[in-house]
This record gives sequence, structure tokens and C-alpha cells, in this order.
Amino acid sequence: MSLKSVTHIDNVKLSEDGNSVIIIDQTKLPNRTEYLDLRTAKDIYDAIFHLKVRGAPAIGIFAGYGMYVLAKNIKADNFDDFYSEFSKLKEYINSSRPTAVNLSHALERMDKIVFENRDNGIDVILQLMFEESKKIHEEDIAMCKAISEYGLTLVKEGDGILTHCNAGPLATSRYGTGLGTLFLAKERGIELKAFCDETRPLLQGARLTTYELQKAGIDCTLICDNMASIVMKEGKINACFVGCDRVAANGDVANKIGTSGVAILAKHYGIPFYVFCPSSTIDFNCETGADIKIEQRAPEEIKEKFYVEPMALPEVKCYNPAFDVTDNELVTAIVTEKGICRSPYKENLATLFKETEK
Ligand code: MRU
Repeated sequence: MSLKSVTHIDNVKLSEDGNSVIIIDQTKLPNRTEYLDLRTAKDIYDAIFHLKVRGAPAIGIFAGYGMYVLAKNIKADNFDDFYSEFSKLKEYINSSRPTAVNLSHALERMDKIVFENRDNGIDVILQLMFEESKKIHEEDIAMCKAISEYGLTLVKEGDGILTHCNAGPLATSRYGTGLGTLFLAKERGIELKAFCDETRPLLQGARLTTYELQKAGIDCTLICDNMASIVMKEGKINACFVGCDRVAANGDVANKIGTSGVAILAKHYGIPFYVFCPSSTIDFNCETGADIKIEQRAPEEIKEKFYVEPMALPEVKCYNPAFDVTDNELVTAIVTEKGICRSPYKENLATLFKETEK
């Protein structure tokens, strides 16, 4: 596989006839590349819930296409009936995963299109939903590229970058957020060295990040999550690059479980800790990280998944939060498509996004 085939992967797309959404089933990677053709509300809900499609921006893109596909099948001959069914479907899909704000952000965009065109007829609404879902996707491609360009200003030839979870093309579109800089650097002939946390319990780092980087010809080394400290201490890491699922207005960031531990270690060793995200991941309605709902997942993911036999007694209790919140004081900068934002985040995020909206 070439660099381009990784950064131009179609992990989420609308089918030719627009009656289904096609995704790469990320639970099967890296061993098998299987595509799924999804058309019912349950298919779409399950794909998000079971992480067949995952990564905050990819979930948002998928939800946009998904709502279009579902809306086409609503049987209604007036707007009120159409909207009532649309709203039920929207709430159902929104309940699939709570932490990534990109999901509700995309659903709200689709809702706005529907509601604002209530007097224009259902055919017009469907056409505009199609256009909006494409726009969500195209915007993400552009945002990932811009984020990666800003990321390039933070690295130099030979730097070691620690990654956590997966914030590459599979989690977004094209370059990715947290990994975008690594792909763009490769394209420009700058060699970086990635150290990838495997990311327990679902192994997105091992299964997806090293898959993407290895296929693109980028130097990458897989480590267990509990090895992050030693590679930092040994001087192998110049910066930590992570994606995120929701940024609160004060700059607290929710990302894959274990991210806050990486940030604490980075601070101890004096290593910059960068968070990469598009503006669709910033939630000004959440004042602080304490307002971010953290998804809790099944104990089997810890005790049984990926093992031939269970690795704990059935009666052993498990606590399995899928995300944690990194305090803004541990974040060196938040890299967005609009620019690089540094502390104090409350003021600077508001200014960056207010000023660029003008
Ligand atoms: O549970 P996941 O695999 O959806 O978690 C994904 C992450 O935590 C990513 O870092 C985040 O969504 C950013 S993706 C660009």
C-alpha cells in the first residue's frame, strides 16, 4: 500500500444509489478489509455502538449520511409526520455513543436543514440533506488537511512522536487529525518516528494506528500503554500527538481512556502534549471537562476480548470508561483547522473561533 492509498482511503461513503452507507468494518482490521453496506436504523446504530465505524469525525460523517439514507425511507405525506419520524431516528442514532460531540453536531446540522425547509416539500428536504451530508464530509477533509499543516510547524526531522488510540484516516477522512502531521511530513520528505500506544482495551493503537502508519511507510513502533513512561524517559519522544472527542470551552479535552495519563507523564518529562481536532469537536456548551459525559462499556471488553480464554473470573467486577478528560493545564496546545490555540484556553478558543467566523 502507498502513502496515498492510506490518506485517500474511503472508510465511510454513500453508496452509488444513495440507499446505504458503506464503511470499512474497523473491528476486522488489520487482518481483514471488509466493507459493510448499511441501510437500517439498527445497522447504523450498531455500527457506531460496536465501533465498526469509530473516531469522532468519522462517526459524524457516518451519521450525516446515515440520516439521509434513513430519511429517504420515511413514509410520510406531510412535513409533521416526516419530522416526527426523523426526530425519533435522530434521537436513536444519537444515543449510540455519548462522548464524541461530532455525532450530535452532525445530527443537529441535518435537523436544521430539515426544519428550516419545512415549507419546501419532502423532495427538496431530501435533496438538501444529501448536499449537507456531502458537505460535512468535504469539510472534514479540508479541516484534516489544515490541521496537519499546522501540526507540521510543531515538528522537525527525526522527531519521536507518541500516539494514543487512533486519530488517522480511519477515524476521520483523508489525513486524520492526530496522525495527519505524520502523513503530511512523509509526503514532504520529513521523517518522523512514531511510538504507538496499543490502547487497551480495544487496541485501536495496535490494530489501526500502526496499520495506517506501516502501510504508509512511516517508521512506527508499537508499545503497550504502560511503556509510555520508559520511552519518554529514554529520550525517544519529542512530542505527544492525540486526537479528541470533545473539547470543553475551558480547554479540557476528552479522548480515549489513558490519554490523561499520557499527558501527566509528558508533563513530568517536559514533553509537549498536543491535542488535534476540527472545530466540530469543540463544544462551547460544555463549560469544563466535568460536563462531558463519559461512555461506560461492557466488562467483557477488559476480561475476554482478544483472549482465547477469559483473563479474570466471571464474578470479578470491572470498571470500563471508554474516555477520560485531560485537564487543560496539561495541554501544550490545541491544534485546529483555524490555528494553534494555547492557554488560557477559555479566552483563546473563544477568540479564535469568534474571529474566524467573521
Ligand atoms: O472509541 P474510539 O475508537 O471511537 O475513540 C477514538 C478516539 O479516542 C480518538 O482519539 C478521537 O475520536 C479522535 S479521532 C480523530
